[in-house]
This record gives sequence, C-alpha cells and structure tokens, in this order.
Amino acid sequence: MTTFEPDFLWGAATSSYQIEGAATEDGRGPSIWDTFCATPGKVDNGDTGAIAVDHYHRYPEDVAIMRSLGLGAYRFSIAWPRVQPLGSGAVNRRGLDFYSRLVDTLLDNGIQPWPTLYHWDLPQPLEDAGGWPERDTALRFAEYAQITHEALSDRVTHWTTLNEPWCSAFLGYATGRHAPGRQDPAASIRATHHLLLAHGLAARAVPGSRVGVTLNLSPVTPGSSSAEDLDAARRIDGLQNRLFLDPVLLAEYPDDVVRDLKHVTDFGFVQEDDLKTIAAPIDFLGVNYYSPMLVGHGTEPRPSAYVGSEHVVHLDGGRARTSIGWEIDARGLLDLLVRLERDHPAIPLYVTENGAAFDDEVHDAGRVAYLDGHVRACAEAVSRGVPLKGYFAWSLLDNFEWSFGYAQRFGLVHVDHSTQRRTLKDSARWYADVIRRGGL
Ligand code: NOJ
Repeated sequence: MTTFEPDFLWGAATSSYQIEGAATEDGRGPSIWDTFCATPGKVDNGDTGAIAVDHYHRYPEDVAIMRSLGLGAYRFSIAWPRVQPLGSGAVNRRGLDFYSRLVDTLLDNGIQPWPTLYHWDLPQPLEDAGGWPERDTALRFAEYAQITHEALSDRVTHWTTLNEPWCSAFLGYATGRHAPGRQDPAASIRATHHLLLAHGLAARAVPGSRVGVTLNLSPVTPGSSSAEDLDAARRIDGLQNRLFLDPVLLAEYPDDVVRDLKHVTDFGFVQEDDLKTIAAPIDFLGVNYYSPMLVGHGTEPRPSAYVGSEHVVHLDGGRARTSIGWEIDARGLLDLLVRLERDHPAIPLYVTENGAAFDDEVHDAGRVAYLDGHVRACAEAVSRGVPLKGYFAWSLLDNFEWSFGYAQRFGLVHVDHSTQRRTLKDSARWYADVIRRGGL
C-alpha cells in the first residue's frame, strides 16, 4: 500500500463563478465573466454562470457531501464583486456574510477552509477602467484582500491570493478565450505584471496568516533534440512557468523571457521595488496540474497564448486524452514536483488542482484511473523528498467550465444541471476511500 503522512491534507476545489450562481443576489456586482457570457459566441451553447450549480443556496448540502467524503480541506474562491460590487470603495456586508456562513459551516464539519481571493471574476467596473493591464487594479486588489482578510481571518488560516494568473493574463488579454476577451499581446504582459504585483501586495495585506499563490505549471518537453525544438521548449517553459515562479520566488523576471518579449513590450511598466513586493515571503506554492506539454518549432507563425513565441507548435504526445482533449500523463506531475523541489527547495507545495473531464455520468472509471495515477505520482514525489503537503481534486462538483460551458464535467460529484440534483460518482467514493485509508 502507498501511504501518506497522517497530516497530508486531502481536499477538493471549486471556484466562485463556476459554482455559486445567484449572480445578482445580495448586492453582488457584475464581473467580467457575466459580461463575457452575455456576449454571443464567447461561451459554448450560450451557457453562463448566472445559476451555475446554485451553490450559493445549496452550500449546506455541499458541505454535507464534503463531510461524507472525509475532506480535510475545501478550496473555494471568494467573489470580489460580492465583497466590493464596484471593485473599490463600499463594502457589501451581505456578500462577506455568505463567505462567513460558508466558513462556519465548514469548520462545524471539521473541514479547513482554503479560500482563494481571485479566481477570475474581476468586478466589471475595474475592467471598464482598464483591467489588469492597469496598475491601479493591483492596488484595488490589495484593499479587497485586506477587507476580506479582516472579515474572515479569525477563522481562516490559509489564504491564496490568485488562481492561475497565466490564464487571467494570456487567455483574458492575448487570445481572448477568457473574459474580458481582449486580444492585445502587450496588454497581456502588463496584465501579468500587475497580477503578480497584486499577489505581492495582497500577501502583505494578510498578516499573521499563511499565504500562497496558485500557478498552473506544466513540464515542457521539446519534440526533438534539434536546436529549434529546444528553443521552443525553453520559450514555452519561460512563459508558462518561469515568468511566474521567478518573480514570486526569486524577485526577478527571467532574462531570456524578457528578451523573447522584446518586440512585444519593453517592461517599462515595472516600477522600482515592484519585484521586491512581488517576492513578498509566502508560506506555500499551489500547483495546478492537468497535462504536460510537448512543443516544437513550426514554420508559420500562428495566433497563440504564448505571445512573442507564435512560431511554436504544440505536438501530440500520443497519449490518451480526457474529454476536453488534454493528454493524460501522471508522470508529468511527478517531473513537475521534482523540478520545483530542485529549483526552489524551500517552499512547501500543495497540488491545489488536479482532475479530469469525462462525460461518464456516475460510473467514471476514466476519472478514477486518472486520479489514481496522479495521487501515486504525488506519493512518489514525497518519497523523493519533495515537500508536498496536500492534494486537492478538481473539482468537488460538475460546474461551469468557462468557455466550454457545462459540457465539460470535472466533478467527483455529478450535478444534473436541470434539477441541481447531486449524485456521488465512483470517483467520489474512491477518493473517500483514499482519504479514509490515508493512501492507495
Ligand atoms: C483550472 C482552473 O483553475 C479551473 O477554474 C478550471 O475549471 C480547471 N483548471 C479545469 O480547466
């Protein structure tokens, strides 16, 4: 049997816009995702998060499910537009009260609350004022972090500032696949910097708590040993991984990435001391991992999230894929964790998301196999000395999968989107068993 230490944290994750619904209730203001979803053609099937899986009203039932699974922690996100409907200024108590009730319910059930302050639902007024490419958004975020921390820090010990800033910056401002749907490469790099600055400012705004940030990281392998393919892998590793890891953990932007981006931007938006702020001490790094990347050099440039590296092509690794089209490779998670420990040995790690989209309703053998392989990779990483402290499955519930709408299901728990009925999938039962036994 593969076992984990008794204090290894087993959790599941969700995010506000993907599950809450109640989009106009109790004073919530509009977010960029409300606007994006209302724009024809942006989200498959015209789906929106307006109702989602109605977690805002059904959270007691959802917490009861978490308890039945034996979860040690629940990773959720707080919707900034519930707390500050305009993104700045007036605080909406009713919005904060929802999270206060949720936290109390979790604690009553012996589940540690793990909130993330930003999982992509930027208040629309801040986007109207320029969004993440503007420095002011980072300053507003620090205020919001402080307000939220003050309201909940008597009960919440672990705070995550941002979820996957790569997605906010590059899918939001370069490809436009995510809200706010802009296609402006230079803006995406400014957004990256101001998201990182927001992280650093917020990390300082939560004194006395444990704080971290969640990045979507992936091992990048070159398609061949040709110099061009090696360079393609260096570039994508730079934009996907090091552009975020280095400023947060080393207080510097990687030279090669800055060089690659020279014709996109001159980084003139970086002010004195910004990097010091961004590298504010953190207590843990959250790692979201789904799939590895295999890349090579293409002859023709094509539009890409990897701005400045448009001639890189993503290659087929020949592995089985989940229903969303992502290759399955648990070994990639092991490689990633081992590399993080090698490059940044001091920082405790949590897998804050890992999971798979499959269409199966309740008998989801594909998801069980995916999770089993990845939890084994975690065990192997721990045995190699990686300071991995916990694992959160994505996701507790089937939910709103961004531009894919409700068609892609990641839940351990099936949700019938017409009745909101929750049903445990086989993967939920499997996970409960892993947690109960402390391993596989
Ligand atoms: C990353 C994101 O944090 C989450 O919101 C999303 O649903 C999953 N990965 C799956 O794409």
